[in-house]
Amino acid sequence: MTERPRLLPLLSPAGHGGRDAMTCIYRCGNACSHPVPNESDNPYFGDVVNAEVTRRGVVRAGAVGALVLGFGGAAAGALVGSPALAAPAGPAGGSGPVVPEVDSFTPARHGAGNGALTFKPIPPNKLDTLVVPNGYDHSVVMRWGDPVLAGAPELDVDRQSAARQSQQFGYNNDFVGVLPLDRKGERALLVVNHEYTNENLMFPDFTSLDAMSVEQIRTAMAAHGLSVVELERVGRSGEWKPVRGGKLKYNRRITAHATKFEFTGPAAGSAWLKTAADPKGRTAIGTLNNCAGGITPWGTVLSGEENFNQYFVGGDGAPETLKPKLARYGIPTNARYPADSRKWERADERFDLAKHPNEAHRFGWIVEVDPFDPEAKPRKHTALGRFKHEGANVIVAKDGHVVAYMGDDERFDYLYKFVSDKKFMKGDSWTAREHNLSLLEAGTLYVAKLEYTSAGEIDGTGKVPSDGAFNGKGKWIKLVRGNVSYVPGMTAADVLTFTRLAGDAVGATKMDRPEDVEPSLLTGKVYVALTNNTNRGVGTNPAADEANPRINNKHGHVLELVENKGDNAAETFTWSVPIVCGDPADASTFFAGYDKTKVSPISCPDNVAFDGSGNLWISTDGNALGSNDGLFATAVEGPERGHLKQFLTVPLGAETCGPFISTDNRSVFVAVQHPGEITGASIANPASNWPDGDFAKPGVVVTWRLDGGVVGS
Ligand code: FEO
Ligand code: CA
Ligand code: CA
Repeated sequence: MTERPRLLPLLSPAGHGGRDAMTCIYRCGNACSHPVPNESDNPYFGDVVNAEVTRRGVVRAGAVGALVLGFGGAAAGALVGSPALAAPAGPAGGSGPVVPEVDSFTPARHGAGNGALTFKPIPPNKLDTLVVPNGYDHSVVMRWGDPVLAGAPELDVDRQSAARQSQQFGYNNDFVGVLPLDRKGERALLVVNHEYTNENLMFPDFTSLDAMSVEQIRTAMAAHGLSVVELERVGRSGEWKPVRGGKLKYNRRITAHATKFEFTGPAAGSAWLKTAADPKGRTAIGTLNNCAGGITPWGTVLSGEENFNQYFVGGDGAPETLKPKLARYGIPTNARYPADSRKWERADERFDLAKHPNEAHRFGWIVEVDPFDPEAKPRKHTALGRFKHEGANVIVAKDGHVVAYMGDDERFDYLYKFVSDKKFMKGDSWTAREHNLSLLEAGTLYVAKLEYTSAGEIDGTGKVPSDGAFNGKGKWIKLVRGNVSYVPGMTAADVLTFTRLAGDAVGATKMDRPEDVEPSLLTGKVYVALTNNTNRGVGTNPAADEANPRINNKHGHVLELVENKGDNAAETFTWSVPIVCGDPADASTFFAGYDKTKVSPISCPDNVAFDGSGNLWISTDGNALGSNDGLFATAVEGPERGHLKQFLTVPLGAETCGPFISTDNRSVFVAVQHPGEITGASIANPASNWPDGDFAKPGVVVTWRLDGGVVGS
């Protein structure tokens, strides 16, 4: 590879909020510069909800015995010598896919600390490096272009091709999941989303998207999707590294241009999904803009297809009756080639809606990948609805039904949940695994309507109401179950394919960009990252309300949702806003009543995760306070609730994604997404030198305690 000089980072011109303009273009097709897609007249005259909510915690079915499990180190020391976790047990025996030990996906509850986060917070900074607290170390696990498949070539930016990239780690890692492969805690599978590409920073000869070769476009397509990578523990530490050599039988690349996906659920095979290439409407090629996700209790990975709209052109040539539906999903219908589109139609005409108007409907779904079965076709579950899916996180409800919580990441869009028809089957048999793999194919899809206790006091400043909280009750509005639609004028396939329109019709509550929505497996309470919404209360846009209490909401907030009687399958809930983000010196911020002089500034909460003590970890995207993005943690129960501390920051231009706390609580994984994504940057003139000292490369990092102890405490 050509030797490249080390250069000083560029200065960062601003885009929207704390993002650079270049991120705005590549990340979401400059969404904030386009009109808000939700123009629905959607008043809410909700019924009074008689929610009776207890503070009783919920432990997911089957979790009690699992709390002592985990992998590796002190937490799992007693398990050394246990049978291999992944016993081969294909339906016919022999070499079939393995059945993982389902209890291994529950975090180990560690005894010491009980939620106390004792690490010394790191200060806000603008350093071009990854910063962790004293007493911790970190290393890069995988970076863009690292070999994934056995025999794959190393990254060589002068020789990249679709074929090479299809064997290598993709670009712009977002979701991170780590699934144990053995009981000794020595092997695990890393599963990562690759949300989008930045061609400026990938190709040395880049001048414009229009000037790219078709092979370069196909290379970008191959850099999207997911990666599965087998990891091994480094010694007895909390560090992990990829397994090198051998067959690497689990290692896998899933891409936007080559991997086939099967549609499941009521909308599979519907007219909306049929195209010239797939007249049955049952098989899609590729996955797009995979953002966040989650690990299911049965050991698969869910991944959200988010800003898929930006990959399509030709909306002006789509059938007139379809145009309002396309527009509601942010696809321009008044231009042949909308500004900021990715130009993929130059390599594959299915991205031209004038020719293939239904192709857009084949994206925007929740995808399920089974990392333990490299041969399994990944699936797009239509029962979970179609929108700009940030991700999905599953918990087993008291009675065994599984519940997936989901957010639609758009200004003024909605919160959803899915409740399965069938119940989770415990145990590690092939029968149980096959059963659980079908759980997301049939169930009920709901959207959230929130009610307020202090509506008259909300003035948009963030001032806490006189009853001491932004809070209220809420209701899950049933949209569809199986082939039965509960939305007048829409069939079940309509509701599932155009779920935003169904939410509009029932008067769902317009939120400030719902990103990750994740239940704590220890308490059953659900946490929603509402990242920001600078249009809130501006012009003709909806005013501030108690659940979205600030106009021009630059810094976002976190909502806590408690299901009725602690039942995650319930149809009513209560909610509150424990954290209103920003500089703690700003009067509009709130940290659950904790002493604000002791908390770290935080802006634009995005992805969330939990450790074994139930602490909430929050990563940020687009810090509008001027510092680099980072990872934060706070207790959500007890006297330390609201004591938010910054654990880590990422290099210049990057956002912090993932995050993931290993089930043995000894490793924190984060994805460093779009380092050096600053206007004017290129490979020859990088804005960040992370991680190798030359040009910027997205990568997944693991952080661990030098003494091998439990992270955070
Ligand atoms: Fe891809 Fe909503 O962040
Ligand atoms: Ca209130
Ligand atoms: Ca996100």
